[in-house]
Order: sequence, then structure tokens, then C-alpha cells
Amino acid sequence: MMHKVALNFADGKSVFFNIRENEVLLDAALKNGVKIPLDCREGVCGTCQGLCESGVYSQDYVDEETLSPDDLKQRKILSCQTRVKSDASFYFDFDSTLLEGKGTSSISGRVKKVELVSPTTAILHLDASGHAEQLDFHPGQYARLKVPDTEEWRSYSFSNCPNAQNQLQFLIRLLENGAMSNYLRDRCKVGQTVEMEAPFGAFYMRHVERPLVMAAGGTGLSAFLGMLDQLAKHGGASKPIRLYYGVTNAADLCEVDRLRKYAESIGQYHLEIVVMRPDAGWTGRTGVIPEHFDRAFLAANEFDMYVCGPPPMVEAIKTWLVDANITGYRLFYEKFAESNTR
Ligand code: FES
Repeated sequence: MMHKVALNFADGKSVFFNIRENEVLLDAALKNGVKIPLDCREGVCGTCQGLCESGVYSQDYVDEETLSPDDLKQRKILSCQTRVKSDASFYFDFDSTLLEGKGTSSISGRVKKVELVSPTTAILHLDASGHAEQLDFHPGQYARLKVPDTEEWRSYSFSNCPNAQNQLQFLIRLLENGAMSNYLRDRCKVGQTVEMEAPFGAFYMRHVERPLVMAAGGTGLSAFLGMLDQLAKHGGASKPIRLYYGVTNAADLCEVDRLRKYAESIGQYHLEIVVMRPDAGWTGRTGVIPEHFDRAFLAANEFDMYVCGPPPMVEAIKTWLVDANITGYRLFYEKFAESNTR
């Protein structure tokens, strides 16, 4: 039996196709040329998330860190796990233009340098100018990098914006024993080739039409460096932008000068740094990011909030917004696990 499916996007565009009874939504979409962003295909990463507006469906596996019972009640779905059982329509909170790019490319870059930006963090600079076309991605999206000499792949957000020379940066947390961390520390040499696939993800900066509140946890900062680079390159933004950057220890802080410098090129930009476990020398803000939100401003204004960091941080911010009775916002978030840090 066949059903009709409509996919509706944030810019008001829709696409329609037929789907077999019980067929997985993501598979049918891809078969019909609709490139819904995806990553794990296992109901864990949340990249393929949407909302069922009408119709009957079931979901195979949904990780509880990805969609809460409340989310499920609101009929949020993961396309890779959703089986359609009637005519149905689904909403995706990104513009249909995200589907129009060239799709994911497999390219390679040469290591230009590895810059240690804190004792626990490095920026990997790759020169992918060998790829004739400009790599087409939205700041906030990520790439999968193959760790040289292994079969391991890791995902990292771009920490700069697209450019004609394909000079790419990735902010990477150095784990004590991680495949990429070990490579960067022990074996990485300038000029080596790193294979990658990109772009991925539905976490990207939308057209700025309301104040932006950005919350970065640890190397979640990478996505925001890309977004802020983009804004700086294009003459700033007409709306206020407030970036909250939270780390566990002050020693984890990185790219602070770069973050401060954005104030010169991005109009009403404000940076707040929050350290969870301050040492004696730290005189700035302490605790966790939501404790420092400007509640009066958020209650009085419509705004877009972008959150990228570890799952507990993302959940804490979602909970804070509900408990504080803040309603006038659109929330975009990306969670990442340490072994897959980006
Ligand atoms: S692709 Fe990861 S949850 Fe669907």
C-alpha cells in the first residue's frame, strides 16, 4: 500500500512524494532526492529530527537523550527511525535551501598546521585547495574526518566559514586516548593528507532576523567560531548577538582573543565567559551558562537561541527556558559526545 507524504520546511516550501506502508521516512526521502541531513542513522544523533504534523507513524529506536518523553508527546520524530503508516505531513525546522546544495562531498585536505590553543584543545588547519570547487557548507555544520592510517572517522564542526581557497579549520578537544587526539599529538605532520566527507548537520545559522543568543559548551565553540566568522566577513549583524562560552576549567578556554575581536566587526556583539570549576586566579563568571542568562531580556524579546555542547548542557538550557517561562524563542541545538567531539 502506498501513502502520500508532505515535507514542509521553515521557509514555507514543501515537497511531496509517495511512500510504501511501513517504509522508513528517511529512506523514502533520499530515494526521492530529498537530502534530509543525517549522520548516525541509528536514532542517536538527532540530526534528522522533524515533527509529525498529521498522520500515523511508529518509530523503531529513539535514544532518550535525543528525544525526551515530552518531545515524543509533541510528535517529534527521527526520520531515520520513522515508519509511515498513513498519508502524513512532517515539518523540518530548517530552510529547504539546505537540501539544494551539492550534497555531501568526499574530499581531502593537507595538514597546514596543528595549533595548540589550550592545553586540552587544538585547531587543525587543513588546506583543501586541491578541491577545485568551493566546499559548500553552512557555518555550524560539520565534517567527518578520517583519522590517517586508521579506519576511524570523527565528526568536527567547521570553526571557520566557507571560503574560495577551501582553507578549513576544526577545533578539536584533545582526549587522553582518542583516535584523532593520538594522531594529532603523536603522528601528525604538515602536508599529510586527511580524507573527509562534508557537509553534515541541520545545526547552522539561519538568516539573522531576531537577537541571537549563542551558548557554547567546550569545543561546541567550534560551530560558533564558524558562524561569527561568517557574520564578521559579511559586515556584522543588525541584531544583538550574545555569546555564552562555558568551560569546565579556565585552562580549557581557547580563542578568547578571537572571540573578543569579533566585537570590532559584528555590531552589537557581547561575550560572556563562564567557568564551572574556577581556580583561585579566576575572577570572571562561574557556574553554568543558564545561571547567567539575562532573564528580563529573554522574557521581553523574541530571539533565536543556538546551543552546541555536551548533552547535559543542552538539556539544562532547555529545562531552564521552560522553568523560566520564556516563550518567544526558536531553539536550535546540537549535542555531541566526547568520543565524537566537535
Ligand atoms: S540520522 Fe542520527 S538520529 Fe537519524
